[in-house]
Amino acid sequence: MALLSRLRAVRIALGTRPSRRPEAPRSAVPESVAIIMDGNGRWARRRRLPTSAGHRAGAKALRRVVRAAGDMGVRDLTVFSFSTENWNRPQDEVDDLMVLFSELIDREVPDLDDEGVSIRFIGRLAQLDDALLAKIAEAEARTARHDRMRLFIAMNYGGRAEIVDAARRFVAEAGPDAPDEEFGRMARAPMCAH
Ligand code: IPE
Ligand code: MG
Repeated sequence: MALLSRLRAVRIALGTRPSRRPEAPRSAVPESVAIIMDGNGRWARRRRLPTSAGHRAGAKALRRVVRAAGDMGVRDLTVFSFSTENWNRPQDEVDDLMVLFSELIDREVPDLDDEGVSIRFIGRLAQLDDALLAKIAEAEARTARHDRMRLFIAMNYGGRAEIVDAARRFVAEAGPDAPDEEFGRMARAPMCAH
């Protein structure tokens, strides 16, 4: 994934590659980093491999990025993994991605737990299937106490969906008459990630 080489380049530029200097200067490391997964299909096509191989390679690269981010001292890492538009992909690919997410949770959560990383899933989760939702809930509960790094995985996310959901939540929490002159001040109040 191009992202990994970019991250590596940043690490070299900062002089924070483990082989050179194990401790990144704290001030040079962003507290929060967000990543949009992309390029899996192109990676596979270039190698004449099936798309599923690209997604698996992307997942492997992501695992290295998560570890590197934790080592560098990033506090919050957000990974945009499956958008509301991604449901429009061929059914085989969507099914394969759902299997992959489920396998990743099984395989990676024990390590994340050992590494002090808490995992939270954000987005319109209710549309995911029940078995995956159960795994998500279990993974979140298992790692909730950790604070070395917080890993947010965005599933079924979308810019429009977020605005609509935030507006709905605002009205649900503050009441239908709440949007008034104080709206801006209230809207900046922290909202929970789910
Ligand atoms: C991102 O890679 C993976 C997901 C959306 C899950 P893409 O599948 O979008 O890769 P390209 O853009 O086709 O190369
Ligand atoms: Mg893409």
